[in-house]
Amino acid sequence: MNPTAPSTAPAGALTLAQEKQVAAATALRWVRDGMLLGLGTGSTSAQFITQLGAAVQAGLKVQGTATSMASEALARQLGIPLVAPQRGLRFDLAVDGADELDPQLRLIKGGGGALLREKVLETASDYLLVIGDSSKLVPVLGRFPLPLEVVPFALPWVLDAVEALGGAPVVRMAQPGAPDYYYSDQKNLIVDCHFEQITDAEQLATRLKTIPGIVEHGLFIGLAKAAIVVRDGAALVLRPGEAARPATDFTELP
Ligand code: A5P
Repeated sequence: MNPTAPSTAPAGALTLAQEKQVAAATALRWVRDGMLLGLGTGSTSAQFITQLGAAVQAGLKVQGTATSMASEALARQLGIPLVAPQRGLRFDLAVDGADELDPQLRLIKGGGGALLREKVLETASDYLLVIGDSSKLVPVLGRFPLPLEVVPFALPWVLDAVEALGGAPVVRMAQPGAPDYYYSDQKNLIVDCHFEQITDAEQLATRLKTIPGIVEHGLFIGLAKAAIVVRDGAALVLRPGEAARPATDFTELP
């Protein structure tokens, strides 16, 4: 969740939690029998998985692969049939949240620490649909700290390299104020980089890829085909570089 966004809403408006529910319900309208789904991670994705589970219990025939152990556990508990990673597997649709998205649908992801599995699975998807509350759309990425997944041995040098790029790196802890590091599902560290404004996301992504020990970064560029953002109680569809349109305009994936 965006730490700067208000957690309560004015009278009559939706809370961020309600906006996430509406975004998830809108995405579910475009899920069809037979689809192989990528299941995202985070509070918005948890909403989608929960609603998908209810639809499966009501007869929807889909299978999925999850981007984190937490999402996998939730999907299993709800009876969503799960498929293990295997060669040749392509997903018809991946549905996932984001920490920030810009009008070109460049994303910052990894606030929940699952950026590596998310990028692997979403790169293997024919369609990535982002779902988000009204706090997620920003004109320029970077206010939300950019997460990196880092091999523990490489940490000191990664911190040096990221600092040289202006990223003010902070190693994520298991809990705020706790003495222990947070570890990803792969047992790697997460480093949150405070760039404040990422004016050239493509160039930064390229540079981060050259730093040994960074397994993956949280910039998702050119992956999202569309996003559903809920604003003023209404679900809007965004496509890269296009004006927002009401989700009610679309009976199929936009
Ligand atoms: C998980 O690692 C992230 O990429 C999430 O998709 C992102 O942090 C959005 O999470 P929320 O839906 O909880 O805001």
